[in-house]
Amino acid sequence: MLQVRGLAKHYLDTPVFQDVSLDVARGEFVAIVGESGVGKSTLLNCLAGLDRWDAGTVALAGTELGTLDDEQRALWRRRQVGFVFQAFHVLPHLDVAQNVALPLMLLGLHDEARVEAMLTAVGLAGLGARLPQQLSGGQLQRVAMARALVHRPALLLADEPTGNLDPATAAKVMDVLVAQTREHEATLVLVTHSETAAARADRVLHLSAHGIA
Ligand SMILES: Nc1ncnc2c1ncn2[C@@H]1O[C@H](COP(=O)(O)OP(=O)(O)OP(=O)(O)O)[C@@H](O)[C@H]1O
Ligand SMILES: [Mg+2]
Repeated sequence: MLQVRGLAKHYLDTPVFQDVSLDVARGEFVAIVGESGVGKSTLLNCLAGLDRWDAGTVALAGTELGTLDDEQRALWRRRQVGFVFQAFHVLPHLDVAQNVALPLMLLGLHDEARVEAMLTAVGLAGLGARLPQQLSGGQLQRVAMARALVHRPALLLADEPTGNLDPATAAKVMDVLVAQTREHEATLVLVTHSETAAARADRVLHLSAHGIA
């Protein structure tokens, strides 16, 4: 499903990581852990085609990202990828339902029923008309998850999705994330400092400057 071979990345004269190779199967949940600054977010951005790398290949279901131009990558990302950011990145002037509907709108789809069902699935039924500022941190993170999942992406990438949450809320948010990705047989790659979040994964990989194991 997701196949990464010999990936390397540096910023100017600072190497970030090298020789990163991994395979993640369809429906599999892999957690990547590593010290702060080791390149977890950078790696995730590369897997989403949001950042460039210096060497190696990234392929999803046979599509090699390096062969796509910027526009093709953007289209590929819209269809295939859901991304959950640590800092939520919900749009403050759109209400909850509009935030969740965004990926569908970008694909030219309008499906209010699916948005409603997604909100229910993440425990936010009835909150669609609220603005983000009227929600708690845990609720905002669930909005971000609903938005990442609503278009049923094959690949879900999550960067510290519980980093801003208290332990009890983090556990609930992880329950939702795991249940939703399992239900749609999505591939989930999550990067985190949290041992608790990583413990939920099928497999845990450790990222260091020299590679991943
Ligand atoms: N745009 C950039 N220009 C230069 N260096 C960068 C840039 N973005 C990140 N870096 C550096 O690359 C390294 C990896 O950063 P990254 O954000 O991927 O780490 P991380 O493992 O996600 O850390 P954290 O756990 O703190 O989120 C760091 O040393 C960081 O300072
Ligand atoms: Mg990071």
